[in-house]
Amino acid sequence: MYSLRYAVSMEHPRSIVVLDFGGQYAHLIASRIRRMGAYAEILPPETSVAEFKDASGIILSGGPQSVYDESSPQADPGIFDLGIPVLGLCYGLHWMTQQLGGEVKQGKVKEYGKTKIRNQKSEIRNTGLLAGCPDELTVWMSHGDEAVKLPEGFVQTATSDACINSAFEDPERKFFALQFHPEVTHTEYGSEIMNRFVKLCDTSPWSVSQYHDRISEEIKEQVGDRNVFMLVSGGVDSTVAFTLLNQVLGPDRVQGLLVDTGLMRKDEVPQIERALGELGITNLHVEDASEEFFANLKDVYDPEEKRGVIGQTFLDVQKRVADDMGLNMDQWLLGQGTIYPDTIETGSTKHAAKIKTHHNRVEAIQQMIEQGLVIEPLADLYKDEVRKLGEELGLPHELVWRHPFPGPGLGVRILCAEKAESLSTNPEIVSDLQQLVLPVRSVGVQGDGRTYRHAIALFKNDPFEISDECWSFATSVPNSSPDINRVLICLSQTEVPSFDFTPGSITPDRADLLREADAIADEELHKDEKLHHQVWQFPVVLLPFGLREGGQSIVLRPIESVDAMTANAAHLPSEMLQRMTERIIALDGIDLVFLDLTSKPPGTIEWE
Ligand code: XMP
Repeated sequence: MYSLRYAVSMEHPRSIVVLDFGGQYAHLIASRIRRMGAYAEILPPETSVAEFKDASGIILSGGPQSVYDESSPQADPGIFDLGIPVLGLCYGLHWMTQQLGGEVKQGKVKEYGKTKIRNQKSEIRNTGLLAGCPDELTVWMSHGDEAVKLPEGFVQTATSDACINSAFEDPERKFFALQFHPEVTHTEYGSEIMNRFVKLCDTSPWSVSQYHDRISEEIKEQVGDRNVFMLVSGGVDSTVAFTLLNQVLGPDRVQGLLVDTGLMRKDEVPQIERALGELGITNLHVEDASEEFFANLKDVYDPEEKRGVIGQTFLDVQKRVADDMGLNMDQWLLGQGTIYPDTIETGSTKHAAKIKTHHNRVEAIQQMIEQGLVIEPLADLYKDEVRKLGEELGLPHELVWRHPFPGPGLGVRILCAEKAESLSTNPEIVSDLQQLVLPVRSVGVQGDGRTYRHAIALFKNDPFEISDECWSFATSVPNSSPDINRVLICLSQTEVPSFDFTPGSITPDRADLLREADAIADEELHKDEKLHHQVWQFPVVLLPFGLREGGQSIVLRPIESVDAMTANAAHLPSEMLQRMTERIIALDGIDLVFLDLTSKPPGTIEWE
């Protein structure tokens, strides 16, 4: 997955090379640079320095390990002799510091999330990487270790309360080190900082239009005289990929398959058929496999196992349909709408900690990829680039700008648990707010690693008026409580009720109930189109407890994001929250409604 197709086909592109030390953000760095119009590629840290002959600059990414871990990733120190700019971020900063003769130690405090740094008044205040930033700015941190002694030639350029050397650089050699993540949107002036670095490098240009031309050639080359059997989920990505393949290869050489899993959104299947039909794309077969999915998912509780089952069932159905259609699979490649972020969080890069396995990266698919039997024309693109490409292909704006919907659909939003789990000691929140740790766990991400922890719910009068105190708990509680990765506010109750837990896996009834709640949230959000655009994604999640036996709860999780790598909980108007809550609580079977206030990290966007 390391080399971008663009790199493969261009003769000698001058690229900024991002060395992937396994952090969540390695690809985000590359995508930000490409958005600035410069070409970036990702390489594993082991890459020998001889392969850097076309590099115009190097960025050392963050990573989950400490430079003191025995197996910590190492790069070729020869990169410091190439005479090109180098930027070390987080783990990259630690490794660079160590290599160049400085010293790294475990910090007294781990910094996660938004942190204030102060720009030092050094002699390079107006010329260094942070020139143009104010004296104080908020940045995104995610680290335990820190540089305690700088290598020779380096000047400290920023500091925070917990980390003295938050930024430093060697202006002579053009080596830069940032403890924070400029690539993350939560870092103020992050783009400006990265842009200053990019401008120091002499890099080849990049754009989606160029990619469109190149990928069209590569699709023809990879497919040869074969055809493509394309799995369409109804989401933006697979629709764009399917349209692209149709345009490049012609409808006779592409067959689309839309598997109705029973975990789709309300009225989704007819909507997709209509939208594609309007584009003249009719080579799409719809297979109702809901019974098979529900049967395979019966009594499956573990989130990873569930993803595995969904991925495998997709494959089984696809094989069966291909057989039924008489397609000779020697002649057909499998097409998928996989995009970059889908490939990152699986730990597919050697050092990345595993957060979640995407349905299109399960074992069987991995094997097919290795055998060259899969085509993923969007696997190098980020969501915003896919949307741009979609518009370039002539897809309608509403379709291209739909909220992303995960392949496993409502399957990752129906929280499954076999038994209620409680914490032996609850975290202490110093506040008048009532609070309760919920009896279920969900997936989160902290410090580049996966967590599976509890959510805590806050209860207050006027629940639709979410106070600053609640929002600040959403950051502080997961940072200070090792068992908590999410903070919610209960919208339907002002006092802590007693809960009744009912074991729940994925069943048709639970899917139907969630589908209705999801449709209500979507409909209410659509009443404010501007807000709908601002909200990047809006998972609605079903939890297996309520106020009576069999009762269920709903969590609203509207988020703002650029590319799903990081996210903020979106602030919805109180009247909108109230309307959603009143309509959802009126559904038979729903007892409680919550709003998720957590950013990513520490929560992931989806709960499972
Ligand atoms: P998380 O929950 O990891 O999600 O913060 C990041 C983005 O990925 C989507 N997602 C998936 N998409 N197959 C998909 O096609 C999957 O298995 C899957 N899991 C998560 C999620 O909706 C969000 O946009």
